[in-house]
Amino acid sequence: MTQTAMSTEQALGYWNQKAQFFASAKRKQQNRRMADLYDKGCWRYIEPLLPPRDGGTILEAGCGTGRWVYRLAPMGYNLELTDFSDEMIRHAKAMVNRQGLGGSVTGYHVLDICDMAALGDNSFDLVLALGMPLSLCRNPKQAVSEMFRITKPGGHVVCDTMNRFRKALDLAQKNDLAQFFNVLNKGKVVAESGLPQTCFSPAELEALFRTQGFKPCKTAAITPFLELPPSKKQVEMLDDDQMFSQMDKAFHTFAEEPWVLGLTSRLLLVAQRPSTASHRS
Ligand SMILES: C[S@@+](CC[C@H](N)C(=O)[O-])C[C@H]1O[C@@H](n2cnc3c(N)ncnc32)[C@H](O)[C@@H]1O
Repeated sequence: MTQTAMSTEQALGYWNQKAQFFASAKRKQQNRRMADLYDKGCWRYIEPLLPPRDGGTILEAGCGTGRWVYRLAPMGYNLELTDFSDEMIRHAKAMVNRQGLGGSVTGYHVLDICDMAALGDNSFDLVLALGMPLSLCRNPKQAVSEMFRITKPGGHVVCDTMNRFRKALDLAQKNDLAQFFNVLNKGKVVAESGLPQTCFSPAELEALFRTQGFKPCKTAAITPFLELPPSKKQVEMLDDDQMFSQMDKAFHTFAEEPWVLGLTSRLLLVAQRPSTASHRS
């Protein structure tokens, strides 16, 4: 049976309730090395874009309880963190402080990614929108427009989203044909939780960024052959060191293979705000 889609207020309530779990050791235990595999996949695209430590500015948007801050702050980077859930931000702040990284976070903001008016124009060298806030927000076009505004000319965005055709395949396999046609024709799906989600094909994601003035640089398959969320069996299988490194190698080898882009559960995009003014439609 197709779920009824939550309103934005209900989605906010959902994420506020999730914050405690995100901050808990239980989440780490549940995802185990799947999270490491995902992080390694993303890091290959983030690392080459890191700005100078001195004066460089990084935003983690839709940060949850923080993911990249725990890697970047110890490396000497300054970051700002945003999420539309005040509970996520509250936990992120507490966790960052507990780890002694408070000095590296120059701002915490409770902000919808579709409206980041509190952040100035041309502020960030690097905007990370990972963990799919673009698929979860109500207006991805508006969110990309906002990301363009706050990114410095020449700066980059790294984001990930749900993949439209992989989602269609997963739904067809579950015989959920109402949702199958919705995602295939409109890119829209309602998760079991009731969260409405927008899925993109690789070409649609690139086009979305291009229409907002960005130059898409790289599109990659971030979890090519695994389910999203991963099955318990898949998570268990990665406990084996050899399997983990084989899978990591496979992800790396095939990440940018055009056919693999169509079947990854999560798509990653790197886009650059051109240094000079360009046309926005
Ligand atoms: C799957 S979690 C990912 C958290 C973190 N980025 C990570 O990678 O672990 C999705 C996050 O997006 C946030 N989110 C959902 N919709 C949002 C919106 N419209 N604006 C900002 N954040 C949003 C949620 O509150 C949640 O923290």
